[in-house]
Amino acid sequence: MTFLKQYYRCSTLSIQMNPFSNDGTDAMCSEPSIMSNNIRLRYSTRDFLTKPVPDEDLEGVLHAGIRAPSSKNRQPWNIHVLKGDGVRKLTDGMASRIQEKMDWDIDDDQAKDFKMALRTMEIIRDVPVLLIIGYVDRIPYHNAAPTETGVTDRKLMDLVSIGACIENMILEATERGLGSLWVGDYLYAYDIASEAIDSDEEIVSMVALGYAAEERRPQSGRFSDRIHML
Ligand SMILES: Cc1cc2nc3c(=O)[nH]c(=O)nc-3n(C[C@H](O)[C@H](O)[C@H](O)COP(=O)(O)O)c2cc1C
Repeated sequence: MTFLKQYYRCSTLSIQMNPFSNDGTDAMCSEPSIMSNNIRLRYSTRDFLTKPVPDEDLEGVLHAGIRAPSSKNRQPWNIHVLKGDGVRKLTDGMASRIQEKMDWDIDDDQAKDFKMALRTMEIIRDVPVLLIIGYVDRIPYHNAAPTETGVTDRKLMDLVSIGACIENMILEATERGLGSLWVGDYLYAYDIASEAIDSDEEIVSMVALGYAAEERRPQSGRFSDRIHML
């Protein structure tokens, strides 16, 4: 039996026998594949070293991203790579903008969110690499039908595709011993983020990459009631 077949057989069996353990971690297989190990090992790094990321690893991560599946193979992403001083300039700029907004007339919940966004800026301030992922409506095609959310089906599928691209990069980073943090808090300082890429494309995420200063730990709990067997 090939390794891959053995893995699939093993993971199928373990899912049937023991869908999820009580502590929320997913079913363990005695012979997990390298990829499933990376899924288990990945976590959001919030303490990075300034140690540079080797070019070869960065290239590997970026290529994992562009290999992602995408709706109608539209590959609707642009991945902008920022390093060193550029990262600090951008994160300081975003932090100042968030700070400014905290002086506005905002409620307690908003203030809490702004504070968390500031914390994110602090975390990623000195990371060696910051990826800025932009959405590009690259190849026109007709929408099948408007969705109930009002988002066009084309855009919905494009954003889902970009999620696949980002997850590929993050798992490849894990494989290469790098920590990562998927960042959405740039939204609190969107105008500053936008200036950094010098383009009017919509920014849909950022990803910080670098070596983790903290010890790896298991992922936080996950809820199996999100899975519905029909
Ligand atoms: C789209 C997206 C945006 C996120 N934005 C942030 C962020 O701005 N700051 C942050 O600290 N974590 C951010 N995270 C990380 C989540 O908080 C994290 O994935 C979640 O708490 C689960 O923890 P884990 O990644 O360690 O398993 C983001 C994750 C995703 C998928």
